[in-house]
Amino acid sequence: MSDSTPHIPVLLDAVKLYAAVRPGQTWVDCTLGFAGHASALLDAGATVYGIDQDQDARSMAAPRLSEFGDRLKLIAGNFGDLSRLLDENGVGPVDGILADIGVSSFQLDQAHRGFSFREGGPVDMRMDQSQGETAEEMIRRLGIGELAGILRTFGEEPFAGPISRAINQWVDAGGPLTTATLASAISDAIPMKVKKKRNHHPATRTFQALRIAVNDELGALERLLDAAPDCLAVGGRVLIITFHSLEDRMVKRRFRRWAGLDRQPVRRGLPMPIEEQPEFELLSRRAIKADADECERNPRSRSARLRAARKLEAA
Ligand SMILES: C[S@@+](CC[C@H](N)C(=O)[O-])C[C@H]1O[C@@H](n2cnc3c(N)ncnc32)[C@H](O)[C@@H]1O
Repeated sequence: MSDSTPHIPVLLDAVKLYAAVRPGQTWVDCTLGFAGHASALLDAGATVYGIDQDQDARSMAAPRLSEFGDRLKLIAGNFGDLSRLLDENGVGPVDGILADIGVSSFQLDQAHRGFSFREGGPVDMRMDQSQGETAEEMIRRLGIGELAGILRTFGEEPFAGPISRAINQWVDAGGPLTTATLASAISDAIPMKVKKKRNHHPATRTFQALRIAVNDELGALERLLDAAPDCLAVGGRVLIITFHSLEDRMVKRRFRRWAGLDRQPVRRGLPMPIEEQPEFELLSRRAIKADADECERNPRSRSARLRAARKLEAA
């Protein structure tokens, strides 16, 4: 695969280590994107079902992975529908599931997709442009209070109230509605002394929150976590990379539940009841983070957290 990539895969060495792919295995990459992780799985000899809901991502990935022939199968869809997508493609339990949640740098850099506050583009933000409401349509539908709730929850934005009022005025003003004018309306709603202290663009948190809401990113992750255990063969591995504390918390809690770590300890001397035997073992107790070197090379990796687990023999 060529080195000139508009998206650098995060935690690639850790993914290779914890995936421990053996030739002939079958993996699902739920977030194909620019195929950096998928290509590592293919290099190690796996057959990979690459899911992405973004038509552009699938079209970009296919020619880049042509050297792997029919070991790569593309699937259009949302990973929240994992069971159905695998069934429709005649895929039985798989040896591994990988998900690298969120948007790719490639998507962020395309002004017309509406994810970037640096370039003027339509306020779209849908990963799947074939369906659903754009961010502008969502903003027009929501009241100020609901919008503020989204900014607070998904963006942890302390100025959610003033920003949502400013966004409301931005819509009503009737001027050009672009990501650039939206970003400047958001920036104007935050006090100068606060902006000076932030080490990121004043619109970063709001754009992140809108994107998460438009794509129902937490809902899709929840459904993926519901489906994953039944889609995995015994011994199969699940690796999930998140970029947001809400998502990491969801993965952490679910993995702990699967591993039986959320239960009351069994009384000393008593055997563990059959129904309490853990379904999974954690491959790492803590989330795996990028080291200083990777953070330097790829600033996106700073907030990345990888968690990995392995499905155990049924009791
Ligand atoms: C962070 S990128 C993945 C990058 C990829 N691991 C690589 O190495 O190039 C996330 C990709 O997942 C896709 N995606 C995000 N949420 C999805 C979902 N719920 N269903 C399907 N694809 C999704 C996005 O469209 C994007 O292309």
